[in-house]
Amino acid sequence: MAITLSKLKKMHQDNSKIVCLTAYDASFAHWVAEAGVEVILVGDSLGMVVQGHATTLPVTLDEMVYHTQMVQRGNQQAWCIADLPFMSDTTVEQTLQSAARLMKEGGANMVKLEGGERVLKAVAALSALGIPVCGHLGLLPQSVEKYGYKVQGRDDASAQRLISEAKSLESAGAEMLVLECVPASLAKSITEQLAIPVIGIGSGKDTSGQVLVLNDMLGITVGSSPKFSKNFMAQSDSIQQALANYVSEVKSEQFPAEMHLVG
Ligand code: KIV
Ligand code: NA
Repeated sequence: MAITLSKLKKMHQDNSKIVCLTAYDASFAHWVAEAGVEVILVGDSLGMVVQGHATTLPVTLDEMVYHTQMVQRGNQQAWCIADLPFMSDTTVEQTLQSAARLMKEGGANMVKLEGGERVLKAVAALSALGIPVCGHLGLLPQSVEKYGYKVQGRDDASAQRLISEAKSLESAGAEMLVLECVPASLAKSITEQLAIPVIGIGSGKDTSGQVLVLNDMLGITVGSSPKFSKNFMAQSDSIQQALANYVSEVKSEQFPAEMHLVG
């Protein structure tokens, strides 16, 4: 049975952790969904782990459409979120056109875009058109040249800003929110203050669900993997088993553990 937005909302109400993982092609999308991952994110992290770039900035909308198409051919039942890549969401009109391509050509169920204040009008416009939107706050890889890769929301002022941006995104119509590298206590507080599900990465265990980059959790990322990730292949003898262990460890709140905290 296909996962719908209303099923995800129901899981959130029932305090059942939502399990999300990235995938970039049909084969992996098939096994990720088969393992019981409810949400597949076609992340622009593909710029780094698939294309070999140093950042996500070079990823184009055409490439996101292409990978979303591949994922949706292999994915039988998971809810599919596709990222709006860098500079594909600079105006409301451009954001609508970009989202339309990810949905019409790519077959995505939901689109995700990075930022708070900057994207509020676009989130409202997408939402008014019936396009489900996922926000993304905290560490913003598309703004890495300006802010770097570091934990956000450490001091009081930036924590307050994150809380208010999260609330504004929800008010604008976002149906879900990704929090990346936010201190665990702040991620918990934001999750409690919102009605929509909050999916964390590097943000502790007290969010509505978790997401990881597939290559990191399979231990095939070249160079060092982020501290908040975990290599699920270390104790598995197949990819299918590693995926199943990820699902069960997120559901049972074994992952993330203390050692995966970054904030
Ligand atoms: O691109 C991606 O994989 C992401 C996740 C890290 C949330 O945006
Ligand atoms: Na992304």
